[in-house]
Amino acid sequence: MIKIISIAGARPNFMKIAPLMEAFGQHPDIEPMLVHTGQHYDERMSDLFFRQLGIPEPDVNLGIGSASHAVQTAEIMKAFEPVVLEEKPDAVLVVGDVNSTIACGLVAVKLGIKLIHVEAGLRSFDRAMPEEVNRVLTDCISDLMFCTEKSGLENLRNEGVAEERFYLVGNVMIDTLLKNKAKADESKILDELSLTAGEYATLTMHRPSNVDDPVVFGRLLDALEVIQRDMPIVFPIHPRTRNNLPKLGLADRVAAMSNLILIEPAGYLDFLKLTSSAKLVLTDSGGIQEETTVLKVPCITMRENTERPITIEMGSNQLVGTDPEKILQAYRNVVEGKLPEGQLPEMWDGKAAQRIAKILAEKL
Ligand code: UD1
Repeated sequence: MIKIISIAGARPNFMKIAPLMEAFGQHPDIEPMLVHTGQHYDERMSDLFFRQLGIPEPDVNLGIGSASHAVQTAEIMKAFEPVVLEEKPDAVLVVGDVNSTIACGLVAVKLGIKLIHVEAGLRSFDRAMPEEVNRVLTDCISDLMFCTEKSGLENLRNEGVAEERFYLVGNVMIDTLLKNKAKADESKILDELSLTAGEYATLTMHRPSNVDDPVVFGRLLDALEVIQRDMPIVFPIHPRTRNNLPKLGLADRVAAMSNLILIEPAGYLDFLKLTSSAKLVLTDSGGIQEETTVLKVPCITMRENTERPITIEMGSNQLVGTDPEKILQAYRNVVEGKLPEGQLPEMWDGKAAQRIAKILAEKL
């Protein structure tokens, strides 16, 4: 039996871990274990996802919570090391690019345990983004890497990684989307919010570069003010963003937008319903660019760069930055129906986790 400890820490990890735990649980040669670092801990940022996605109860919860980058990363490392020493796994598997990813990855390799990175090779080439640092460093120390798109393979090649260490397998987050789409269709969230399918926008915003800086945040609000006069915008607000509104003196501006509907962070199924039924999605997230590509819903990404270029080349994504004029131009493109519908990237077919399990059973 191959014993693999998988790590889940923050919200975007949970939809990636769910299909992996399922595939590992069904594989005769894999003994799976799950560790939650506790990086995200609110009911609506964590437990709700475990319940809705049927993720098994973590074997260990490190209970770390929020802190500065250094403190959070260090505390996760301190708490995870004894778990690895005790459990003696054959491998540790990390997903994505959050602080839990690099923290647990470092612990594993320093103890001589094989490290597996799922969603490897993505690069925004913007080192000011904490996630980019986490991505580069995690790939640098990983033994086996699984990529969602071809740019990931190219980036790893360019960084000198040997061919036999990385694989294109598709997208585990899309495994979860395809599995749960029918269930999400039954969500009552549109009725609850008095929204009509195809006649509203869904917004998410939580990148520090957008919501920690009053000037940038203010410019994004300039664009949102105009759009919400045209159609309702539903905004499940991330705790970081909500905490910042009063701190940056922007709470009154947001409250004055009568068609901007602020709601608590949504669970997986409600959020999938909100995105799949929207006229368009406005976001600074990474994963949502991919989900909208599969849903064929136009996505306006309010960032200067993306580590997921396939969503622009093939999908429904427009990368526009934070200039209000550019956001509004992209919005008009959507409303006027000027954009092609987009296509599905290779292997985004709901079977990525099974491919990963098969490769791991062979390679380990
Ligand atoms: C983290 C990830 C980011 C990911 C995002 C998704 C890193 C470096 N960043 O950013 O890549 O896109 O998660 O959500 O790992 N908070 C709560 N409750 C929670 C969690 C957080 O109130 O359950 C608040 C706290 O005030 C905390 C702040 O949100 O200080 C930020 O949380 P943190 O985990 O540090 O980073 P995120 O911004 O969530």
